[in-house]
Amino acid sequence: MDNLADIKGAVKHLAIIMDGNGRWAKLKGLKRTEGHKEGAKTVRKIIDLSGKYGIKYLTLYAFSTENWRRPSSEITVLMSLLKEFLELNRRTLIEKDVKLKVIGKKEDIPAVTRTVLQSVINETKNNKSGQLILALCYGGREEITHAVREVAEDVKNGKIKTKNIDEKLFSSYLYTSEIPDPDLMIRTSGEFRISNFLLWQLSYSEFWITDTLWPDFDESDLVEALKSFKNRKRRYGGV
Ligand code: IPE
Ligand code: IPE
Ligand code: MG
Repeated sequence: MDNLADIKGAVKHLAIIMDGNGRWAKLKGLKRTEGHKEGAKTVRKIIDLSGKYGIKYLTLYAFSTENWRRPSSEITVLMSLLKEFLELNRRTLIEKDVKLKVIGKKEDIPAVTRTVLQSVINETKNNKSGQLILALCYGGREEITHAVREVAEDVKNGKIKTKNIDEKLFSSYLYTSEIPDPDLMIRTSGEFRISNFLLWQLSYSEFWITDTLWPDFDESDLVEALKSFKNRKRRYGGV
Protein backbone atom coordinates (compact mmCIF):
# COMPACT_ATOMS: atom_id res chain seq x y z
CA MET A 1 0.00 0.00 0.00
CA ASP A 2 1.12 3.53 -0.72
CA ASN A 3 2.37 5.80 1.95
CA LEU A 4 -0.49 6.42 4.37
CA ALA A 5 0.93 9.84 5.26
CA ASP A 6 0.48 10.94 1.63
CA ILE A 7 -3.28 10.61 1.68
CA LYS A 8 -4.18 10.81 5.34
CA GLY A 9 -6.26 13.89 6.06
CA ALA A 10 -6.50 14.94 2.41
CA VAL A 11 -10.25 14.36 2.39
CA LYS A 12 -12.01 15.89 5.38
CA HIS A 13 -15.52 15.12 4.21
CA LEU A 14 -16.24 12.04 2.16
CA ALA A 15 -19.75 11.46 0.80
CA ILE A 16 -20.69 8.08 -0.64
CA ILE A 17 -23.57 6.87 -2.81
CA MET A 18 -23.51 3.24 -1.72
CA ASP A 19 -24.95 1.60 -4.80
CA GLY A 20 -25.04 -1.89 -6.25
CA ASN A 21 -26.29 -4.09 -3.41
CA GLY A 22 -29.09 -5.53 -5.55
CA ARG A 23 -26.80 -6.32 -8.47
CA TRP A 24 -24.24 -7.89 -6.14
CA ALA A 25 -26.91 -10.26 -4.84
CA LYS A 26 -28.27 -11.02 -8.31
CA LEU A 27 -24.81 -11.97 -9.58
CA LYS A 28 -24.59 -14.49 -6.78
CA GLY A 29 -28.10 -15.81 -7.31
CA LEU A 30 -29.26 -14.36 -4.00
CA LYS A 31 -32.20 -12.16 -3.01
CA ARG A 32 -31.66 -8.38 -3.18
CA THR A 33 -32.00 -8.16 0.57
CA GLU A 34 -28.92 -10.37 0.96
CA GLY A 35 -27.04 -7.65 -0.91
CA HIS A 36 -28.25 -5.06 1.59
CA LYS A 37 -27.06 -7.24 4.48
CA GLU A 38 -23.62 -7.52 2.91
CA GLY A 39 -23.64 -3.78 2.20
CA ALA A 40 -24.20 -3.08 5.89
CA LYS A 41 -20.93 -4.95 6.61
CA THR A 42 -19.10 -2.65 4.21
CA VAL A 43 -20.50 0.36 6.09
CA ARG A 44 -18.93 -0.94 9.28
CA LYS A 45 -15.55 -1.32 7.56
CA ILE A 46 -15.70 2.14 6.01
CA ILE A 47 -16.38 3.74 9.39
CA ASP A 48 -13.18 2.09 10.70
CA LEU A 49 -11.19 3.15 7.65
CA SER A 50 -12.40 6.74 7.93
CA GLY A 51 -10.51 7.07 11.19
CA LYS A 52 -7.39 5.55 9.67
CA TYR A 53 -7.41 7.95 6.71
CA GLY A 54 -8.26 11.09 8.65
CA ILE A 55 -11.76 11.50 7.24
CA LYS A 56 -13.59 13.67 9.79
CA TYR A 57 -17.02 13.64 8.16
CA LEU A 58 -18.46 10.59 6.45
CA THR A 59 -21.83 11.01 4.77
CA LEU A 60 -23.53 7.83 3.57
CA TYR A 61 -26.55 7.84 1.28
CA ALA A 62 -28.60 5.04 2.77
CA PHE A 63 -32.18 5.71 1.60
CA SER A 64 -33.45 8.30 -0.85
CA THR A 65 -36.82 10.00 -1.13
CA GLU A 66 -37.18 8.03 -4.38
CA ASN A 67 -36.41 4.68 -2.74
CA TRP A 68 -40.02 4.65 -1.46
CA ARG A 69 -40.84 3.44 -4.98
CA ARG A 70 -39.36 0.05 -4.13
CA PRO A 71 -41.46 -2.96 -3.07
CA SER A 72 -42.60 -2.55 0.52
CA SER A 73 -40.98 -5.86 1.45
CA GLU A 74 -37.55 -4.50 0.43
CA ILE A 75 -38.16 -1.22 2.29
CA THR A 76 -39.09 -3.14 5.44
CA VAL A 77 -35.84 -5.10 5.29
CA LEU A 78 -33.80 -1.93 4.69
CA MET A 79 -35.34 -0.17 7.69
CA SER A 80 -34.87 -3.15 9.97
CA LEU A 81 -31.27 -3.57 8.80
CA LEU A 82 -30.70 0.04 9.72
CA LYS A 83 -32.06 -0.56 13.21
CA GLU A 84 -29.88 -3.67 13.56
CA PHE A 85 -26.85 -1.76 12.26
CA LEU A 86 -27.31 0.92 14.91
CA GLU A 87 -27.73 -1.63 17.69
CA LEU A 88 -24.59 -3.47 16.56
CA ASN A 89 -22.49 -0.36 16.10
CA ARG A 90 -23.53 2.01 18.85
CA ARG A 91 -20.69 0.86 21.10
CA THR A 92 -18.17 1.31 18.29
CA LEU A 93 -19.38 4.86 17.64
CA ILE A 94 -19.07 5.69 21.33
CA GLU A 95 -15.61 4.09 21.63
CA LYS A 96 -14.34 5.78 18.49
CA ASP A 97 -15.75 9.13 19.63
CA VAL A 98 -17.90 9.45 16.50
CA LYS A 99 -21.03 11.59 16.51
CA LEU A 100 -24.07 10.31 14.62
CA LYS A 101 -26.21 12.70 12.62
CA VAL A 102 -29.15 12.09 10.30
CA ILE A 103 -30.02 14.23 7.32
CA GLY A 104 -33.30 13.81 5.51
CA LYS A 105 -37.04 13.82 6.08
CA LYS A 106 -36.74 12.26 9.54
CA GLU A 107 -40.50 12.11 10.10
CA ASP A 108 -40.78 9.54 7.30
CA ILE A 109 -38.45 7.07 9.01
CA PRO A 110 -40.54 4.30 10.63
CA ALA A 111 -41.03 4.95 14.35
CA VAL A 112 -39.15 1.89 15.68
CA THR A 113 -36.07 2.74 13.64
CA ARG A 114 -36.36 6.44 14.52
CA THR A 115 -36.41 5.67 18.24
CA VAL A 116 -33.12 3.76 18.04
CA LEU A 117 -31.63 6.47 15.85
CA GLN A 118 -32.60 9.15 18.33
CA SER A 119 -31.06 7.28 21.23
CA VAL A 120 -27.73 6.78 19.42
CA ILE A 121 -27.79 10.44 18.36
CA ASN A 122 -28.23 11.42 22.02
CA GLU A 123 -25.52 9.04 23.22
CA THR A 124 -22.98 10.38 20.73
CA LYS A 125 -23.90 14.05 20.66
CA ASN A 126 -20.76 15.27 22.43
CA ASN A 127 -18.33 13.11 20.43
CA LYS A 128 -15.63 15.03 18.64
CA SER A 129 -13.25 12.78 16.68
CA GLY A 130 -15.51 12.25 13.70
CA GLN A 131 -19.05 12.47 12.37
CA LEU A 132 -21.11 9.81 10.70
CA ILE A 133 -23.89 11.44 8.74
CA LEU A 134 -26.60 9.10 7.50
CA ALA A 135 -28.74 10.38 4.64
CA LEU A 136 -32.09 8.74 5.34
CA CYS A 137 -35.31 9.46 3.50
CA TYR A 138 -33.05 12.08 1.98
CA GLY A 139 -33.49 13.94 -1.30
CA GLY A 140 -31.56 17.04 -2.33
CA ARG A 141 -34.68 18.68 -3.74
CA GLU A 142 -36.67 17.87 -0.60
CA GLU A 143 -33.88 19.38 1.50
CA ILE A 144 -33.88 22.58 -0.52
CA THR A 145 -37.67 23.00 -0.57
CA HIS A 146 -37.79 22.28 3.17
CA ALA A 147 -35.18 25.02 3.70
CA VAL A 148 -37.14 27.45 1.50
CA ARG A 149 -40.25 26.90 3.61
CA GLU A 150 -38.30 27.60 6.81
CA VAL A 151 -36.69 30.71 5.35
CA ALA A 152 -40.13 31.96 4.24
CA GLU A 153 -41.51 31.39 7.74
CA ASP A 154 -38.63 33.33 9.29
CA VAL A 155 -39.13 36.23 6.88
CA LYS A 156 -42.82 36.24 7.72
CA ASN A 157 -42.24 36.29 11.47
CA GLY A 158 -39.55 38.96 11.15
CA LYS A 159 -36.57 36.82 12.21
CA ILE A 160 -34.69 37.55 9.00
CA LYS A 161 -34.91 40.11 6.21
CA THR A 162 -35.24 39.14 2.53
CA LYS A 163 -32.30 41.33 1.61
CA ASN A 164 -30.05 39.38 3.98
CA ILE A 165 -30.64 36.01 2.34
CA ASP A 166 -27.32 34.95 0.86
CA GLU A 167 -25.61 31.59 0.26
CA LYS A 168 -24.22 31.41 3.77
CA LEU A 169 -27.56 32.14 5.41
CA PHE A 170 -29.41 29.75 3.12
CA SER A 171 -26.87 26.97 3.84
CA SER A 172 -27.63 27.34 7.54
CA TYR A 173 -31.21 26.21 6.82
CA LEU A 174 -30.13 22.98 5.14
CA TYR A 175 -29.93 19.66 7.01
CA THR A 176 -26.15 19.92 6.66
CA SER A 177 -25.73 23.24 8.48
CA GLU A 178 -22.44 23.21 10.41
CA ILE A 179 -20.99 20.51 8.14
CA PRO A 180 -18.44 21.55 5.50
CA ASP A 181 -19.23 20.61 1.88
CA PRO A 182 -17.89 17.21 0.78
CA ASP A 183 -14.40 17.24 -0.71
CA LEU A 184 -14.94 13.95 -2.47
CA MET A 185 -18.03 12.05 -3.57
CA ILE A 186 -17.70 8.36 -4.36
CA ARG A 187 -20.36 6.38 -6.19
CA THR A 188 -20.08 2.62 -6.48
CA SER A 189 -21.54 0.33 -9.16
CA GLY A 190 -20.60 2.47 -12.13
CA GLU A 191 -23.58 4.82 -12.45
CA PHE A 192 -22.69 8.35 -13.54
CA ARG A 193 -25.44 10.26 -11.78
CA ILE A 194 -26.07 11.85 -8.42
CA SER A 195 -29.60 10.54 -7.88
CA ASN A 196 -30.79 13.56 -5.87
CA PHE A 197 -27.88 13.43 -3.41
CA LEU A 198 -26.57 16.67 -1.80
CA LEU A 199 -27.49 18.86 -4.78
CA TRP A 200 -26.41 22.08 -3.10
CA GLN A 201 -23.38 20.77 -1.24
CA LEU A 202 -21.69 18.90 -4.12
CA SER A 203 -21.31 21.99 -6.28
CA TYR A 204 -17.50 21.88 -6.10
CA SER A 205 -16.84 18.37 -4.83
CA GLU A 206 -14.59 16.00 -6.75
CA PHE A 207 -16.31 12.83 -8.04
CA TRP A 208 -14.88 9.33 -8.15
CA ILE A 209 -16.93 6.54 -9.66
CA THR A 210 -16.03 2.88 -9.54
CA ASP A 211 -17.59 -0.23 -11.09
CA THR A 212 -17.09 -2.04 -7.79
CA LEU A 213 -20.44 -2.92 -6.22
CA TRP A 214 -20.93 -1.59 -2.69
CA PRO A 215 -20.68 -4.97 -0.88
CA ASP A 216 -17.28 -5.51 -2.56
CA PHE A 217 -15.95 -2.00 -1.82
CA ASP A 218 -12.83 -2.32 0.29
CA GLU A 219 -9.74 -0.52 1.52
CA SER A 220 -7.95 -0.73 -1.83
CA ASP A 221 -10.89 1.04 -3.55
CA LEU A 222 -10.90 3.73 -0.89
CA VAL A 223 -7.16 4.25 -1.20
CA GLU A 224 -7.46 4.51 -4.98
CA ALA A 225 -10.16 7.17 -4.58
CA LEU A 226 -8.12 9.14 -2.04
CA LYS A 227 -5.04 8.98 -4.24
CA SER A 228 -7.03 10.18 -7.21
CA PHE A 229 -8.35 13.05 -5.09
CA LYS A 230 -4.82 14.02 -4.08
CA ASN A 231 -3.93 14.48 -7.74
CA ARG A 232 -6.93 16.65 -8.62
CA LYS A 233 -6.46 20.32 -9.30
CA ARG A 234 -9.36 22.10 -7.63
CA ARG A 235 -9.75 25.43 -9.33
CA TYR A 236 -13.15 26.58 -8.05
CA GLY A 237 -13.64 28.53 -11.24
CA GLY A 238 -10.27 30.25 -11.03
CA VAL A 239 -7.24 29.70 -13.23
C1 IPE B 1 -27.98 0.55 -2.90
O1 IPE B 1 -28.10 -0.61 -3.63
C2 IPE B 1 -28.81 0.53 -1.64
C3 IPE B 1 -29.97 1.43 -1.65
C4 IPE B 1 -30.32 2.23 -2.61
C5 IPE B 1 -30.80 1.43 -0.48
P1 IPE B 1 -29.30 -0.87 -4.64
O2 IPE B 1 -30.39 -1.55 -3.89
O3 IPE B 1 -29.70 0.37 -5.33
O4 IPE B 1 -28.63 -1.88 -5.66
P2 IPE B 1 -28.82 -1.92 -7.23
O5 IPE B 1 -28.52 -0.54 -7.75
O6 IPE B 1 -30.22 -2.34 -7.47
O7 IPE B 1 -27.81 -2.92 -7.68
C1 IPE C 1 -29.13 6.06 -4.84
O1 IPE C 1 -29.17 4.78 -5.38
C2 IPE C 1 -29.71 6.06 -3.47
C3 IPE C 1 -28.94 5.38 -2.45
C4 IPE C 1 -27.76 4.82 -2.60
C5 IPE C 1 -29.52 5.35 -1.14
P1 IPE C 1 -30.38 4.28 -6.28
O2 IPE C 1 -30.08 2.89 -6.67
O3 IPE C 1 -31.66 4.52 -5.59
O4 IPE C 1 -30.30 5.27 -7.53
P2 IPE C 1 -30.81 5.14 -9.01
O5 IPE C 1 -32.25 4.74 -8.93
O6 IPE C 1 -29.99 4.10 -9.68
O7 IPE C 1 -30.58 6.48 -9.60
MG1 MG D 1 -29.12 1.26 -7.05
